[in-house]
Amino acid sequence: MDKDAVTIAVPKGRLFEDCMDLFKRMGISIAEDVDTSRKLVFPSMDGSIRFLVVRDKDVPAYVEYGAADMGIVGKDVLMEAGGDLLEPVDLGFGYCRIVVAELASGKKENPTGWGQARIATKYPNISAAYFASRGEQVEIIPLHGSIELAPCVGLAERIVDLVSTGETLKQNNLVESDEVMLITAKLVVNRASLKVRSESIEPLIEAIGNAAGVRS
Ligand code: PRP
Repeated sequence: MDKDAVTIAVPKGRLFEDCMDLFKRMGISIAEDVDTSRKLVFPSMDGSIRFLVVRDKDVPAYVEYGAADMGIVGKDVLMEAGGDLLEPVDLGFGYCRIVVAELASGKKENPTGWGQARIATKYPNISAAYFASRGEQVEIIPLHGSIELAPCVGLAERIVDLVSTGETLKQNNLVESDEVMLITAKLVVNRASLKVRSESIEPLIEAIGNAAGVRS
């Protein structure tokens, strides 16, 4: 591999295929089948890029600490992480929303009485900022997944969660009560990398922006 290869952290999961499609449009591809390999580092065929395949929530840390020069991550993960990264390109894919939702049919399960409203979420920071901005006192209950279950079993009155098709809300008898933010995937760049390696990083940002067809 090229010793000057640029390191890019890409997220496993929902955004991975769109990321690889984006790089394919730039003529950059990975020789191996990433889905079946247990490797975590994949050089591009031309050796110009080293892809790190990581959990989406970990992309900001890899880039912020310079283990990766750049990364691709959803705006939700970026906002929740709250790091200091450059965000030069909105990639235009991975569209979804963060919403507040509650039971469609009211407070069905209410074993303890609500008192201060409880909000279940995998976005505690985004949620705290949202409710603080509205002057609402709430108790945030951080969870890691299956957030929609919380109102159904009386763990929380409302949730703050990602909505894509809306199917999970519907199947769990939940309705949106407010929209917190719109989400798309962002290209993020380490500040020092851009300064120190501008001759390779800048053209790459440009090329990614052109391939995405959308700039922030
Ligand atoms: C996300 C989100 C919702 C679901 C929304 O969960 O937290 O649960 O997708 O998608 P929909 O609107 O298309 O139904 P994810 O699949 O990431 O799993 P998780 O619940 O384990 O976090």
